[in-house]
Amino acid sequence: MKKIRTVVLISGSGSNLQALIDACSYPDYPAQIVAVISNRPGAFGLNRAQQHGIPTAVLDHRPFATREAFDAELQRVIDCYAPDLVVLAGFMRILTPTLVSHYLGRMLNIHPSLLPLYPGLHTHQRALEAGDSEHGATVHFVTPELDGGPPLVHASVPIEAGDTEEILAKRVLTREHMIYPLAVRWFAEGKLVLKDGKAFFEDRPIPAGGVRVI
Ligand code: GAR
Repeated sequence: MKKIRTVVLISGSGSNLQALIDACSYPDYPAQIVAVISNRPGAFGLNRAQQHGIPTAVLDHRPFATREAFDAELQRVIDCYAPDLVVLAGFMRILTPTLVSHYLGRMLNIHPSLLPLYPGLHTHQRALEAGDSEHGATVHFVTPELDGGPPLVHASVPIEAGDTEEILAKRVLTREHMIYPLAVRWFAEGKLVLKDGKAFFEDRPIPAGGVRVI
C-alpha cells in the first residue's frame, strides 16, 4: 500500500510523535514518518525518533535574525523530505503566513483545548480558571491565524474537582494520543480535505469544532 510521506515537527517531549510512531508501526497504517525536525536541540522527541531509525534534523531558531529567515530555512529543510503531510506535534513556534501558505491543506496541528476555545498558551489553566466542566484537544488544519484553522477532530475530557493544571494536561494528552493518529489516518486516506478555507470529511462539511470522536 502507498503510505504518505509525513514530516513531524516538534519542540519538546514528543509524546504525540510517539503515538504517531506507534501507529505507523502497523503495516496497514497509511502513513510513514520520513523525518522529525526540532527547533530545540535537546528535545526528547529526537531520541524517540532515533530509537526507531527515523531521520532527524535540528534547526535551532535562536541564531536567526528574523522569523521570516527561520521559516524560509525550515521550509527548505522540510522540503528535502518531499512530504505529503507536515504534522506539528508540540511545535511551539508561530509560523509565518508564507510558510503556512506553502503547506496549506497539508499541514496539521494538535492543540490542547476544545477549539475555538483557548487558542494560544496555558490552555489547561484557562479552562480551570473559567470553571469549565469539560476540556479537551483538537486537531485542525493550519492556516495563518494562530490555532484558528478549521477543526477536524476533537476529543473531550471531564474537568474534575481538585484538578490541577498538571493533572488536566495529562488527562488531555491521553486523548491527544488517540485523535492525532486517527486524524493522520483519515488525511492519508483522502478523507480530510481543506477546500476554500473549509474542512470536509468524505466530501461533507465538518461541523464547527470538528468531528467529536471521544
Ligand atoms: C501537547 O499537549 C500539544 O497539544 C501542545 O503541546 C504538547 C506537546 O506535547 N501543543 C500546543 O500547545 C500547540 N499550540 P508532546 O511534545 O508530548 O507531544
